[in-house]
This record gives sequence, C-alpha cells and structure tokens, in this order.
Amino acid sequence: VHPDLRDLLLSRIRDVPDYPRPGVVFKDITPLLADPAAFGALIDALAALCARHGADKIVGLEARGFILAAPAAAKAEIGFVPIRKAGKLPGATLSQAYELEYGTAEIEVHPEAFAPGDRVLVIDDVLATGGTAEASLSLIRRAGAEVAGVAVLLELAFLDGRSRLTPALAGAPLEAL
Ligand code: PRP
Repeated sequence: VHPDLRDLLLSRIRDVPDYPRPGVVFKDITPLLADPAAFGALIDALAALCARHGADKIVGLEARGFILAAPAAAKAEIGFVPIRKAGKLPGATLSQAYELEYGTAEIEVHPEAFAPGDRVLVIDDVLATGGTAEASLSLIRRAGAEVAGVAVLLELAFLDGRSRLTPALAGAPLEAL
C-alpha cells in the first residue's frame, strides 16, 4: 500500500486505552469510517486486492469485517459472503470452533455460499491472534472453495497472528494495509 494511504489510514484509527479490559489498547476504526476520503480510499485498495489476487468472492468476518468487505465486493463487482458468529445464519450451516485467549468461539457459513473452486478473499478489520481468520479459512475450504488470500486493515504484529495463520494460508497472501 502507498505510504500516503498508510499514513492517512493510521491517522484515522483511534487508540482507546483500557478497553474492553484494563491494559488493552483498543483500535477504534470509527473515525476512519466517518471520513469519506479515507474510507473510500480503503475500499478502493481492498477492491484492487481482489483483482490482483484473482478473487471470485469476498468473505467478510462479523461484525466489523462486514463494514469493509461488503463495499469492497460491490466495488470489485463480485459477490459478498458473510461468515457469522454461531446462531445468526438461517438454514443449514457449516460451523468451526476455535480457541480464544479465554474460552472458545464458533463461526458459521452457508454450505452453498460458494461455487466449486471459487477463489475467496477474506476481509476483516483487525488481525490479532489470527484465530478468527484461521477458522474462516477452514470453513471456506470445507465449503469447497479456494483461499485467494486474507486482507486486513490493521495487523497487531505484537500478537503474531501472522505466524498462527501461515499454515492455514498454504501460500496464499496475507495483506495488511
Ligand atoms: C475482532 C476483529 C476480528 C477478530 C480478530 O472481532 O474484528 O474479527 O476480533 O481477533 P483474532 O485475530 O484474535 O481472532 P470481534 O469478534 O472482537 O468483534 P466485532 O464483532 O466487533 O468485529
């Protein structure tokens, strides 16, 4: 990503100390979403990644991933597929449980969301431990699609989610804008 865009995006992300727990610095993207120049440039950059990596579909990860992934899919003129927290999608679903720092979580996708061999780009706001993204790649493959890559606005490098995600990527790119 161009250094000017990187600086613009970083300037619109607000640090909130001690949220949601004492000692955690939360990265708040709402100032970025409220700035049409920054938000528009971000969506353009994500749509360009779809073309570069030959994606046929975009997956967004609930909830903040939806905000970025859905407009990027519309801009790239490809379909959007939601991966949701357990219990939110109607009808039959595939489920994937994964480990959190404390406890476990579960995400779901519709089994018919992809055509066989679809190349899927996963978009989320933040890569932290990498657990959510890793589980999403399992779901995509179980649903019969291929992983074109993972794109996030922000990578919290000190948590090293990239290392956790690398085996699941199986050579596909992880792009952190
Ligand atoms: C956040 C974030 C990512 C995930 C990253 O979602 O949006 O989806 O955590 O963490 P990980 O890399 O450690 O898995 P969260 O479920 O907290 O909230 P949201 O529903 O507001 O997006």
